[in-house]
Amino acid sequence: MNLEDIPSTQDFDRSGLLKHVLDQLKISRDGDHGPGHWARVRLHGLKVGGVRGADLLVVELFAFLHDSQRLNEYSDRLHGARAADFAASLNGQYFDLKAEQLDKLCHAIQHHSGGDVHTCATIQSCWDGDRLDLGRVGIKPHKDYLSEEGARLIARAYKMSRGLSAD
Ligand SMILES: [Fe+2]
Repeated sequence: MNLEDIPSTQDFDRSGLLKHVLDQLKISRDGDHGPGHWARVRLHGLKVGGVRGADLLVVELFAFLHDSQRLNEYSDRLHGARAADFAASLNGQYFDLKAEQLDKLCHAIQHHSGGDVHTCATIQSCWDGDRLDLGRVGIKPHKDYLSEEGARLIARAYKMSRGLSAD
């Protein structure tokens, strides 16, 4: 496994979950925190997580859920806490996480916009995925907020976020 690879992921009711999340979404699907962003967070998070031995189901669920409870695109400070509660409410319905996995998912979601770094590879892979897509709002991701592996994707992810060719 290296950073070029997109690791295979575990099956769960992905289409059911995405439909449920989209049906209740209060922000624009075409905005900075909509499904286009989720897809890039997923891609970056899985690449980093695959190399770092992260729990890839948690990483993928983070991508789909972390911005799902935003009320606006800007300063919604509690969107992470609400999204963590939302994620917990869906466990057993669209996916089945053990308590330890759910704790990691909820921690990653609740604190994703706080600027912390984490020693847990799963949690940091979630945050790497999100931060590597900062280029969509004109911000170049900074290595200090990423894992070493995530930092190696900065240039490529920035181009992808800006809609430029990745090569
Ligand atoms: Fe995000």
